[in-house]
Amino acid sequence: MNDQPEIHKGLAGVPVDYTAVSKVNPETNSLLYRGYPVQELAEKCSFEEVALLLWNGDLPNATELASFVAFERSHRRLDPGLRLVIDALPVSAHPMDVVRTAVSIMGANDLASGTVSPEADLEKAKRLFAALPAVIAYDQRRRRGEGLVEPRDDLDYSQNFLWMTFGDEAAPEVVDAFRVSMVLYAEHSFNASTFTARVITSTLADLYSAVTGAIGALKGPLHGGANEAVMQTFTEIGTADRVVPWLDDALANKKKIMGFGHRVYKNGDSRVPTMRAALERMIAHYGREDMLELYDTLEREFGERKSIKPNLDYPAGPTYHLMGFDTPTFTPLFVASRVTGWTAHIREQAAANSLIRPLSVYNGHDERHVP
Ligand code: SDX
Repeated sequence: MNDQPEIHKGLAGVPVDYTAVSKVNPETNSLLYRGYPVQELAEKCSFEEVALLLWNGDLPNATELASFVAFERSHRRLDPGLRLVIDALPVSAHPMDVVRTAVSIMGANDLASGTVSPEADLEKAKRLFAALPAVIAYDQRRRRGEGLVEPRDDLDYSQNFLWMTFGDEAAPEVVDAFRVSMVLYAEHSFNASTFTARVITSTLADLYSAVTGAIGALKGPLHGGANEAVMQTFTEIGTADRVVPWLDDALANKKKIMGFGHRVYKNGDSRVPTMRAALERMIAHYGREDMLELYDTLEREFGERKSIKPNLDYPAGPTYHLMGFDTPTFTPLFVASRVTGWTAHIREQAAANSLIRPLSVYNGHDERHVP
């Protein structure tokens, strides 16, 4: 009888812990943040409200929201010391490396970084939430040879993020589409980057270390890096009439089509309809029906070859492109959103911790000895 234990490669389908932060249900193709359907949150709530929901477990009342908004607006400015570090990095540095470095620097500068408690970690989470937009916006501008744009505290989170990036006030429909993307990207149970954050937290390491590790995991094109890769695919294909030859060649070479498939959802990603609607509003706003034709053609042709459906990164990438973000900036935008989910899970892991340390099954040399 084979006494080898069963290996669960990639932990696929393996429940490893409870979480109250979100529920991903592939059977009903649904996603709940603390019990609320993400589609309702994307329609009715600001990203600031969703952040507080993920951290505290309930939507904020007016006083709680006002207090957080005041905190966030007073902590937006790019720290001068952090700016010096960013300026020391080559403009060719990948923006995910810049963001990862920035979080490390923030941790090194935070005298309370080693304090692991629910309250201290909530404070750190709020500081990261407020500080990341300036890092991401400044890094795109410096790559373009443009100067720093100071934040404006008369603008909400999404308006200000776009202001600091482009130096002008975005149209309301652009701001709203950006807000929708932040809400949809915020949280998704034990995805690879969130689980990375939980593993690091389980050793009682600090929140900044856990977020830094999560950023490293999110960078990969099988995970968050897919939104950047989707845009690279669109650029490579060019126009809708070139989809079929491109796709046939890609599949013949066993390439993964970025923005499609999901480890948990097998009948489509519950977030896609909401993000696609936002993309359609951006396509109308910018008059880019050609992009929608390319988007739909690739989805249709791939669907006819493999029953694999789009994930959130597929509509998110072109949406950010239309807004004017450089392609390498896309995944840092994912970081600015997912830092809320990561830090909610970090606090949950710390509150009922157990060191995460799975087993391995040895298949190397039998024991042998040095001659
Ligand atoms: C995110 O986990 C999360 O929740 C993540 C996320 C979040 O919010 O945190 O939702 C965000 O990361 C979304 C996923 C973004 N990644 C991509 O778009 C990259 C492309 N997708 C694939 O690499 C893939 O679909 C994964 C990695 C997302 C999921 O892969 P699985 O579940 O491990 O499935 P698999 O790779 O074993 O594929 C099963 C079959 C294979 O075919 P066979 O070898 O059995 O013949 O489906 C094929 C795969 O080749 N397949 C694809 C494909 N996805 C699966 N073939 C071509 N293109 C694809 N995109």
